[in-house]
Order: sequence, then C-alpha cells, then structure tokens
Amino acid sequence: MCGIVGYLGFRNAEPIIIKGLRRLEYRGYDSSGIATVANGGLQVVKCQGKVQDLVDKIDGSLAESGIGIGHTRWATHGVPNDVNAHPHVSASGKLVLIHNGIIENYASIKEALQSRGVEFKSDTDTEVLVNLIDDIRTVEGVNLAKAVRMALNQVIGAYAICVYEIDNPTKIVVAKKGSPLVVGIGENEFFIASDATPFLEYTKTAIYLEDDEMAVVELGEEVKVRSIPNNKAINPYVHQLQMDIEAIEKGGYDHFMLKEIYEQPKSLRDALRGRLLADQGIIKMSGIFEYREKLVNADRILIIGCGTSWHAGLVAEYLFEDLARIPVEVEYASEFRYRNPVITEKDVVIAISQSGETADTLAAIKLAKERGATIFGVCNVVGSSIARESDAGAYTHAGPEIGVASTKAFTTQVAVLSLMAIQIAYEKGLLKESYYYQLLAELDAVPDKIEKMLESDSKAKYISSLFKDAPNFLYLGRGFNFPVALEGALKLKEISYIHAEGYPAAEMKHGPIALIDENMPVVVIAPKSGQYEKIVSNIQEVKARNGKVIAVVSKGDKEIAAMADHVIEIEESMEVFSPLLTTIPLQLLSYHIAVMRECNVDQPRNLAKSVTVE
Ligand code: F6R
Repeated sequence: MCGIVGYLGFRNAEPIIIKGLRRLEYRGYDSSGIATVANGGLQVVKCQGKVQDLVDKIDGSLAESGIGIGHTRWATHGVPNDVNAHPHVSASGKLVLIHNGIIENYASIKEALQSRGVEFKSDTDTEVLVNLIDDIRTVEGVNLAKAVRMALNQVIGAYAICVYEIDNPTKIVVAKKGSPLVVGIGENEFFIASDATPFLEYTKTAIYLEDDEMAVVELGEEVKVRSIPNNKAINPYVHQLQMDIEAIEKGGYDHFMLKEIYEQPKSLRDALRGRLLADQGIIKMSGIFEYREKLVNADRILIIGCGTSWHAGLVAEYLFEDLARIPVEVEYASEFRYRNPVITEKDVVIAISQSGETADTLAAIKLAKERGATIFGVCNVVGSSIARESDAGAYTHAGPEIGVASTKAFTTQVAVLSLMAIQIAYEKGLLKESYYYQLLAELDAVPDKIEKMLESDSKAKYISSLFKDAPNFLYLGRGFNFPVALEGALKLKEISYIHAEGYPAAEMKHGPIALIDENMPVVVIAPKSGQYEKIVSNIQEVKARNGKVIAVVSKGDKEIAAMADHVIEIEESMEVFSPLLTTIPLQLLSYHIAVMRECNVDQPRNLAKSVTVE
C-alpha cells in the first residue's frame, strides 16, 4: 500500500507529483507529502490527511523544481500524523526518500544507528532506511547507488523506494522488492510511480522493475537497472503501455465506484471478447489451455484470494464442482500460507487478484509453487506480480478499478472463471452438446442483461433512503448466491460503515435468526433459478419474526413480491450465472447508502486498494 511518485526532467515537478498522488490516492490516504529542490535547498511539505490537505498546506509556497518525489501513505509503522508522513530526510539533511512497504528488521537497525548518534524524529521504518543509506554512504565513502544497494542487502522486508541527494538533484535511485515500481521514460524526462497512471499523458514507454532490482534514473542518461543481490547489469524489458487516460478519469460520474458499476457491461464484454465464441461453440483461452491437461486431470483445485477476490473464488467453487466435477477448496491466502498446507505436484492452484499485488496471495502462490503445484493467475492488472509469478493465467480485462471497493473486478473474475469451468467440463465430456451451447449463449447474454438492469437504479436508491440509518444488515443467499450474500455484506460494511453479515440462508436458523426483529433489514438473494422454494421458506422465517425483507428477485416474481417488504428485480438467467446479475443491485444499494450517509465512497476509512503488506 502507499503510493509513490517521482519526477526528474525539465518541467516543474510539483503539479506532476500532485496529480500523480491524486491518481494513486486509492493506495492509501492517511497522509501525503512532497519533496523538491530549488535554489540548492530542499523544500518538503507533508501532512496528515488527503492529498487535498497537502495542496492546501503547500498553498503556492514551492518554488519551481525539475526534481520531486511524493508519497501518499497507508500507515503501518507509526500513527498517521505530519511527522510520520513521507518523504523522510536523513538526519544529516543530505538524502530524502519515499517508501512503499515494510522494513521488518528496522528496530535493530535503528538501535545500531542510534548508538552511533543518529537522531530520529518519526516512528517509521522509512526514516530508518534513509538513515541507513546515508550512514553507509558517508562511512564507506560510496556513491548513492552503491549505498542503496548495500543498505537493501541488509534489510528484511518489502519496499519500493525513491531516494535522491539534495546536493545532486539530477539523479534519483529507485529499487523494488515486493511492492510495485514503474519508471516512465519521456524525452529528457523520467517519471517514477507505483503504477503507470501518474504519467500516462506524458509517456507510454515504461520499465516495470522486478523484485530485487534497482535503477539509477539520471538526466541525460539511459535508465540503468541492476540486480540488488549481486550488482549484475540487467537489460530491462521496455513496455509500450496500452492504457488510455479516459479509463482513469471519472467521466461525468460522481464517484469512481458508480462509474465502475456502470462499466460492467463493457468490462464483461472485454473479459469475454475473443474467448467466448458462442455461435461457433468455442471457448479460446490460450494462456490457460497451454496447461489444459493439468486442469482436466486435476484431482482437486485450490483457489486462493482475499476479500472480494476470495468471494469470486467461492462462486468458482460452485462452478467447478457443479460443471467440471473437480473438488475445490477455497482458501484465504493469509491462512493458507501460514498453516503448512498439504500441496502436491498434482495440485492446481488458481490465484485470484484484481491488483495482482496482494502480499498474502503472492506469498501463498510462491509457497504452492515451491511445493510443485501449477499456478493459474486470474488478475486484472497486466504485468502485476501475481500474474508474473503464475505458470499460466487469464487477465480479466476489467480496466483500471480505482474505487477502493471492488465491483467490476468481481464480475469479470467470475466471468473468466466461468469460461474456465465450462471448458474443462466440456473437455472432460461432462456436458451434453446442447447444454454446452446453452451455457455459452447464456454467458454471452449476461452483459446485455446487466446493461438493461442498469437502465434505472431508482429502486435501489429508494430502498437505500429507507434503510440508510440501520445499524445492522443481514444478507442471505443459497448455493451460487451464498458468496454473493458475503460480497453484498462486505460492500456495505466497507463503504458505509454499517455492520453487515452474509450467511447461507439455511444457516440462519442456527444462530443469526436471534438477531431478527422489526429493525433488522435482511437482504435475501432469491432469483427463480436455484433453490427457489427453499429460499421462499427462509423469507417466511424472517417475516414471521418481523424482519424487513429486501429481496433480489427474478423479473416478474409475484410470489416473493407478495411477502417481501421491497423487491429489486433482475433479469432471469441460468443459476450458474446468477451471481453476475444478483451482485449488481447489491453494489448499487451499498453505493447509495454510503452516499446518503456522506461517506467517502471511493476512499473508505482505514482501507487501501492494493494490500501489499501481510
Ligand atoms: C473489497 C476489496 C478487497 C479486495 C482484496 C483483495 O471491495 O476490494 O476485499 O478484494 O483486498 O485484493 P486483490 O483482488 O487486489 O487481491
């Protein structure tokens, strides 16, 4: 987490850094800061709060500068305050540094530096790192790049860093391990950032540093990349980025989250394009099917993810078991990696991650790989660490997701996993030809159905106005829609701060039913397909205890409409694809409730989009 931005060139760095920080604010927004050099002197401004607070604090005070680094923080070591905000300057006042990650052995290094008289101002691991580099630089008499390399060979942890010497503002040294870092290369100028969005309007030529790599970015020179452990020169792959600037702007919507909800028909079409050829009865996924034997012959599939991606994994469990008859275990990455799991060479692991950078998911697949499993990655961010670490995979092509709450990432993950499950089932000879064709046609029709459902959100808005002040919500679903209940509850809690729980509807009577009274809104996901009669009974159970039922039902459903307090209709679909449709009204419900409660929808408190700490 944390976003880092750097600029070196002929333009004034400040507006580039500030705009870049705004684009990276999704990565953390506890504090932010900037450091530039003008007239031989360092100018640092930093403060607790959002980038706008930083802009207010700067208030035009910075003189123009061709070098700058900026940071937006998701706090790990030390509370969010002005002092702990980055950039951090070394005690000698010679070096300034920004950091995304965690230095795990910072305490012992700090002690050693303190014993030699270095004084610290903040509680951060980052201030320790900048002082370690400075100490090595002066004691060993080496240049900055060498000092950075020597220091990083001493630290344990994860980092993406940018550091420069205040007396030599023509060079920035950057390094990466575990946290992302990309260098944008323009004409006589360079950009550094956690992802490419801060510099898309200036250049589309970029180098993504790999783990254990560092680079010297210097005016008038080519970017020089070296290995941190052995100092070997590396010839980096230079990417030509395909991303458009419009994709990262709000495009007339009030919030990124709303834009991303409405983008789902398009992002699903992008996820299916070239892969699902429904009229020809073909699914093409070259990345995945290179390893088709592994999948077809798998004794079991392990699915790993966190948060919303874990929920997509749960939907995939139903898909793979129902269609392809392969046993599936869905694991929280953070639990899987620490419990000495039994993994063999016959195992297939599917890692699901929007960002492709989630630290626990990345560590989990590294562990599974070491033990011989084959790894498939289902990621959104192209070139991300999880995508690179996987043996094979499929991108979800959702486009940049900037709202911290995942929306289009979830539905595109489910679409890609649906394609995989159908194709494996077909290759195993488990699907009758007619059923196979029906599945393809139905999946192909999903984007149009969602488009239709999004023509009006007035019902979701109205229901939101009635329940916006409720302190608790329950979400119930069965079968394929049980994970949707979990996802609906997660969306509500993370952006509106209302306590919500998702449950399998039948499990309610084993405990949660005790919570139901006339004040408890219960969102029941009850499309016609699936265990309809059973869920009707569950609704009766809630109504018998005076609970308020908000039911998500198939278009024209009269039976549930007669017993529920409110219904939101969705388009009809096969049960296997219903999560793609039932999720949409739940996203809208959380969105409108959060807006009505005046919450920061795109940047909910305490959260960050990319969880690169463990
Ligand atoms: C919830 C949400 C998070 C992420 C989780 C995993 O709306 O966005 O729960 O799903 O942090 O992130 P990725 O998918 O990037 O691995």
